[in-house]
Amino acid sequence: MSTSIQRYTERERMNHWVIAILFFLAGLSGLAFFHPSMYWLTNLFGGGAWTRILHPFLGVLMFMSFFGLMTKLWHHNKITDADKKWLAAVSENLTGHEEGLQDVGRYNGGQKVLFWVTVVCTFLLLVTGVMFWQPWFADSFPIGLRRIAAPLHALSAAVLILGTIVHIYAAIWIKGSIRAMSRGTVSAAWARKHHPAWYREMTRNS
Ligand code: HEM
Repeated sequence: MSTSIQRYTERERMNHWVIAILFFLAGLSGLAFFHPSMYWLTNLFGGGAWTRILHPFLGVLMFMSFFGLMTKLWHHNKITDADKKWLAAVSENLTGHEEGLQDVGRYNGGQKVLFWVTVVCTFLLLVTGVMFWQPWFADSFPIGLRRIAAPLHALSAAVLILGTIVHIYAAIWIKGSIRAMSRGTVSAAWARKHHPAWYREMTRNS
């Protein structure tokens, strides 16, 4: 039987799945107002008025839960020289010829870039969203600022949605990754192949 290596604690996994649920709820309720062709999505939230009320609260809850995971994982996502090599050889890495190319730690360069893109988008969504949140805060901001905030909010959401599609695709595509976030463990073979430096670090004293 192959050995397992712990990758996420129970708390981190709960935190991650709460983010994922809130991401879908905030995303779908936001898309409902992005274009009239998507207004039918308001049916999922009890109609237009309820969707409008709930969307910002779902967004704030998503920000808070993401902030929790971010504070636990940011130090694992610092960009190193190995990550720069990973990014320089991105096409080899994405076509599965990564072995021997670079010494990948707990996360690879692509995962780290995606992590920071998610951080920037999540913060931008919060700040810009608060600026035109009627009736609570919007009146405190000049109209010129609100006019910049609205398209920036939509842009950050679009980047976050695209980034998350890549994230989900990679999680499914790289066999053995999903169990890291469901059971909390990965196989030793998975760790050795995809994250050799992290594998050595985790097995040094065993
Ligand atoms: C159905 C949706 C999702 C699936 C299937 C999924 C799957 C996964 C998996 C398998 C991992 C572990 C990857 C690894 O350890 O190498 C992971 C990590 C992570 N996920 Fe998700 N995820 C989903 C949604 C989201 C969303 C919506 C966000 C945030 C907006 C998110 C943020 C993260 C973060 C921050 C990590 C840690 C990676 C890092 O720190 O670089 N995930 N996810």
